Parts: sequence; structure tokens; C-alpha cells
Amino acid sequence: MKQSRGDGVRLFRTIAGLRCFLELQRSQQRVLQPPIVAGELILLQEEVGLVPTMGALHQGHLSLIRRARRENAIVVVSLFVNPLQFGPHEDFDRYPRALEQDRALCVEAGVDAMFAPTVEEMYGQGEPLTQVMPPPELISRLCGAYRPGHFPGVATIVTKLLTIVQPDRAYFGQKDAQQVAVIRRLVSDLNLPVEVVACPILREVDGLAMSSRNQYLTPEQRLQATILYRSLQRAEQIFQRGERDSSVLIEIVRLELATVPELQLEYIEMVDPITMIPMDRVIKTGLMAVAARLGSTRLIDNILLRPNRKPMIAIDGPAGAGKSTVTRLVAQSLGLLYLDTGAMYRAVTWLVLESGISLQDEPAVAELVSRCRIELVSQADLQAPPQVWINGQEVTEAIRTPEVTAQVSTIAAQPAVRQELVKQQQRYGEQGGIAIEGRDIGTYVFPDAEIKIFLTASVLERARRRQQDLKNQGKGEISLEELEHAILERDRKDSTRALAPLRQAEDAIEILTDGLTVAEVVDRIVRLYQEKC
Ligand code: PAF
Repeated sequence: MKQSRGDGVRLFRTIAGLRCFLELQRSQQRVLQPPIVAGELILLQEEVGLVPTMGALHQGHLSLIRRARRENAIVVVSLFVNPLQFGPHEDFDRYPRALEQDRALCVEAGVDAMFAPTVEEMYGQGEPLTQVMPPPELISRLCGAYRPGHFPGVATIVTKLLTIVQPDRAYFGQKDAQQVAVIRRLVSDLNLPVEVVACPILREVDGLAMSSRNQYLTPEQRLQATILYRSLQRAEQIFQRGERDSSVLIEIVRLELATVPELQLEYIEMVDPITMIPMDRVIKTGLMAVAARLGSTRLIDNILLRPNRKPMIAIDGPAGAGKSTVTRLVAQSLGLLYLDTGAMYRAVTWLVLESGISLQDEPAVAELVSRCRIELVSQADLQAPPQVWINGQEVTEAIRTPEVTAQVSTIAAQPAVRQELVKQQQRYGEQGGIAIEGRDIGTYVFPDAEIKIFLTASVLERARRRQQDLKNQGKGEISLEELEHAILERDRKDSTRALAPLRQAEDAIEILTDGLTVAEVVDRIVRLYQEKC
């Protein structure tokens, strides 16, 4: 995916203009990056990422835009101060508007289109509107209790934006955790074909969560505002020492906040991060959220509390860099579960073959896979590969047959299969303690992985290794030049394919394996892990 086009950004005020632009862009992408044929599947390269904002962009928004830029061919940023989500006495009129500054930031970030419609363009001339109403239990607490009408307003504008832009992915900040929960539910309940990507909270150096509203604060209030995050951190410390009772944790935050008498507290709540239902005790994950006012400025912040888990290692890199051998050995040395994604695709292939449905019948495969449950279990002997179970049946050996090997790439190339397996992998990730390799693990599957490695080797080195492998397998001598050419072509395909393209995470540590033995590479990663934990 491109980083930045450098040819400016188009600003649209009307839905018609934006739609026409997107149609043209999508067809241009089709010509520029013709479909890639992977197995039997044709992959198109015209994905659109949408970052909905109310403008007055700050670093938090820019982190969403950068992520969208990395993951999509076309990036649209909407800037619309949505009157529907403001109450009658809220700050709609004084909400910061800074279109020219926003435009400069969007150019810099390589955005393709800004969509800044007028209120009339979005809502007409004041005639009654159809609105989207999220389920009451999701919006009756936290901000919903203090801002009646806010979430129906958000749900309505987001539904409109998703319908207008029809993005493949839409990016939201986790600072508005209840908003993320509402939007996820909206997308799921209305079957909207978009992936909701929630991005981590960006903070100032003193911990204050970034927000366009921070600019309302006086210098004194700006200092006082840091108490919000400090109080949440305090609760997190106590939580990590084993306290699970929500009322105790809430009391800790309340006491901290009380040290700034100017702060008018609205709420401190511990809720389930998906349903927003209050939790008496936190067993797995709890969302601790606060809202308070400093003068006329309303501030919110939150933290996810989950028991300290063993960190995970995500290893990405081009084909032939030795990822799977290295990841397996790293997992063995550190006692982590090697999350063998290859085995997961094999297990699904086995299931499809067993079921008798045609491998090419993608809808039937999608149905079957959406109902399957794969388990990988480390064996007592860490040298042995993990046991593989699917739907309660052990298939560790069965997935290694030539029939499965012959069909696995056809199954793996199906987007619905990948989507389901990524979900299952992410469930393992919640518990931590895994080592996993691929092409987009650190950027897409586990963007929050504690340790990210980009394992690579020069084309010449990989050609040499391949030549040696072929020799060892008695497959004769192929010239280095020919192999280098094939590797370059494979790299090009891997980094431009639509499904799981090869990407290096910004925070990945690159290890160039030229001249290093496998043991040296493993040792280096093991040491990095130990230093971090
Ligand atoms: O988070 C925001 O900025 C707004 O609530 C959103 C999602 C752009 C809808 O107006």
C-alpha cells in the first residue's frame, strides 16, 4: 500500500462530488493495480478506509489516519461537526473548526479525500429525520446517561457516512469507548459490510488523552486535567496486584480525583467493554471509564483492565526469511504457544474436505468456517508441534495428508476463511503468551503485540538459501539469478496483494538475517523478549 501520494487532497462539500471521486478512484485503482490472481481467486486492490472526525484534527486523529493509510488504497477523512449528537446546552457552536489547518494535516498524511459537508447537505432543510437508535442498555449509562440524544446522533451520522463512502474499514479512537461499542453493535445489527477498527488512545506526554476539546482548557486546568489518567493508572496498579472488586477500584479513582476540588465528577464506572453492562468484579477484562468537567470543559478517559498477561511475539517478514522455523524455536525456548496459523488453515481445509462441499463454493465454505472452533494445544514435549483440534476432534495428523496439502492454498485465499481465522487467532491473543508469524500480524492481526519483529534477509541471501534447499531435496541446481528474480516477484506480489499483504509495523524491530545462523536469530529474539518482560 502506498504511504502518501504527494499530489494533494481533494476537498468535497457534497455527497455527489465525493461519490463520483470515489467511483473514479476505485476504477483507477483497478487499472493501476490490476487484479492479482492467487490460486483461483481474483483479488481487487481498491480498498477504502474512512476516518470519521469532527475536524480540529490532532495527533490522535492522525494516528487513525496513518493506520488507514497503511491499510487501504484510498483514504477518506470526513470532517463534520454533527449537530445531532450535541445537546441543546452543549458546545456545538463553539466546537473548534479549523478546516485550513486540517487540510494541511491531511495533505501531509497522504489523505485522498476530505469530506466536509454542510449541515444542509447531510440533513436537508430541517424536515423530520429518520434516526438510528442504538439499544437502550448500551447507551443508558456512562456518557449516554449525561448526554441524552448523543449516541442516537452518533449512530445516525456514522450510518450515513458508512452508506455514502462504503468503506472497507472505518477507524475510531478507543478514547470514546462507548462510541466504539455503539458503532460495533450498529455494524453488526445492521449487517453493514465494514470492518470497525478501534485504535489505541493517544496521550500527551503527561498522560492527558488527546481531544479537540483540550484546547478549551486554561493553562491551570490543563495541568489539573492530568489527574484523570493518573487516577486510572492508580486503579490499574491495584488491579494488577490482584484487586478485582469494582467498588474498591472505583473508590480508588474517586479518592484520586477528589485531590483536584475544581473537578466536577460525572461518573466513574466499571463496565463490560462490549455490552457496557456494569461489572461487580473483573474476571477477564473490564473497562474503567471516567467523565468529569473542569469549568465548562467536559473530559472523558478510560482504561482497559485485564490481568497482566504473558506478552506475545508477532513475527512478520518476506517469504524465505526463515519465519516459521525461527518462530517455532522462539516459542519452544520461551514456553509460549506457537500459534501455527498454517495448521489452522489446514484444519479448515480438512473440515471442508470431510464435509464433502466443493472447495470452490465460497459461500458454503464461509458458512462452515463461521461455525467451526479450532483449538491449538501445546504438548508437554515442547519440541512436538501443538495438537490441533477442530470442533472437538483431534486432527493433528489428519491435517498433514497430501490431500489437505494440495488444497490448503485454495481455502486460505478465501477472504471469509481468513476473516474467521483472524478472529479465532485474536481470541488466543487476548490471553497472551503466544508466538505467531505471518505477513501482517504486527500491523493487522495483533497491532498491540508487545514484541514485533520484522524478519528479513536480502534477496541474494534468500536465493542462496533456496538454492541450498533445492539441492538438499535433490531437485538440481537452479541459477541464483533465476531464484533472485522469482523472489523479487514473490515479494512484489506479497506486498501488493489485497488479502493479508506483507507490511512492516512502524514499531517492529527489523532483524536482517544475512550472515546469521538460525540459533543466533532465535537467541536475539529471546533476549529481546526477556528484556521486555
Ligand atoms: O468521534 C467523533 O469525532 C464523532 O463522534 C464521530 C464519530 C465523527 C461522529 O460524528
